[in-house]
Amino acid sequence: MGISGKTRVCAIIGDPVEHSLSPVMHNAAFKELGLNLVYVAFTVTTKELKDAILGARRLGLRGLNVTMPHKNAVMNYLDEVDATAKAIGAVNTILSNQGKLIGYNTDGNGAMIALQENGVYPEEKKLVLLGAGGAAKAIAYHAAQDVAELVILNRTPEKAKKLADVLRKSFGNKVKGGTLSSTVLKDELETADILVNATSVGMHPDVNSSPVPSSLLRIDLCVMDIIYNPLETRLIADAKSVGSKVVSGLEMLIYQGAVAFEIWTNCPAPVEVMRNAALNELEKQGVRH
Ligand SMILES: NC(=O)c1ccc[n+]([C@@H]2O[C@H](COP(=O)([O-])OP(=O)(O)OC[C@H]3O[C@@H](n4cnc5c(N)ncnc54)[C@H](OP(=O)(O)O)[C@@H]3O)[C@@H](O)[C@H]2O)c1
Repeated sequence: MGISGKTRVCAIIGDPVEHSLSPVMHNAAFKELGLNLVYVAFTVTTKELKDAILGARRLGLRGLNVTMPHKNAVMNYLDEVDATAKAIGAVNTILSNQGKLIGYNTDGNGAMIALQENGVYPEEKKLVLLGAGGAAKAIAYHAAQDVAELVILNRTPEKAKKLADVLRKSFGNKVKGGTLSSTVLKDELETADILVNATSVGMHPDVNSSPVPSSLLRIDLCVMDIIYNPLETRLIADAKSVGSKVVSGLEMLIYQGAVAFEIWTNCPAPVEVMRNAALNELEKQGVRH
C-alpha cells in the first residue's frame, strides 16, 4: 500500500538502532496484510527520551518498540504499563490507544512462543536460564509460569538470586538462583530438560565463546540461545553436534515482534513473512550463519 495522508507510523527508538531488524520485519508484515502503516527507526539518546515520547504522542504514532538503553526509563513517560511489563520492570512495546500510551513487554512471551513453535514445550519441565540481565528477566517471568523448575544462573550470582527471590513470591520454591560456573552447570544440567542462554556470551565478535562446556550437552537437553548475531552461535553448533533440538535467537526476535504486531494491529502476525524479511536483512548486513 502506498503512503498516503492516512498512513500511520510505527517506530523503534533506541541508541543505536540502525541495524535493527524490526523495520524490515514489520514493513513486510504491514504490506502482506495491506495495512496502511509504515515502520521506521529513530535514534534517541537518553537525554532525548522524554521529548521523543512527547513527540510520538503529538504526532499520533500508532506504536513504538523500545530498545537499549530505554526499556526501563520509558516507563516514566507512559499513561499505563501492563502488569507483566511492570513485574519485569521493562517495556519494549508501546501502543497508542485513543491518545493513551500503554507499555508492554513482549520479549519473554516471544521467547516462550519461540520454544513452543519449535516443538519445545516447557510445561512440567526443568529449565536452566543463563543470565539475569534485561532479556533474562523477561524470559524468567514467563518461564516461571509454565515450568516445574526454573534455575537462573548468572556470572554475578547476586543478580540471579535477587531475581529468583522476587519470582519465588509469585511462583513459590520452584525458582532458584545461583552462580554461572562449570560446577553448578554440571549439577543443574544433569537433570534439566531445557537450557536457555540469555547472556551475551557468544555474541559477535566473541563468536568462539560459549557459556556452557560442550561436554555438558546431551541429546535430550533442548537448547535455545537468544543471541541472533551470529545466527548459529557456538552453543547452538555444539548442541546440534550432539543431536539436541535447538532454537535460535532469531526465533525469539520474530515472535517478540509478532506479539507487538498483534498489539498494534489486532491482526494475526504473518510470521513466515517476518522471518524471511529478517533473514534477508541479516544476509544484507553480512551476519554469519
Ligand atoms: N533474540 C532476541 O529477541 C533478543 C532480545 C533481547 C536481547 N537479546 C540478546 O540477549 C543478550 C543479552 O541481552 P540483555 O539485554 O539481557 O543484556 P544485559 O541486560 O546487558 O545482560 C547481559 C547478561 O549477560 C551476562 N554476561 C555478559 N558477559 C558475560 C561473560 N563474559 N560471562 C558470563 N556472563 C556474561 C551478564 O552477566 P552479569 O550480570 O554478571 O554482568 C548478564 O546476565 C544479548 O546478546 C542480546 O543481543 C536477544
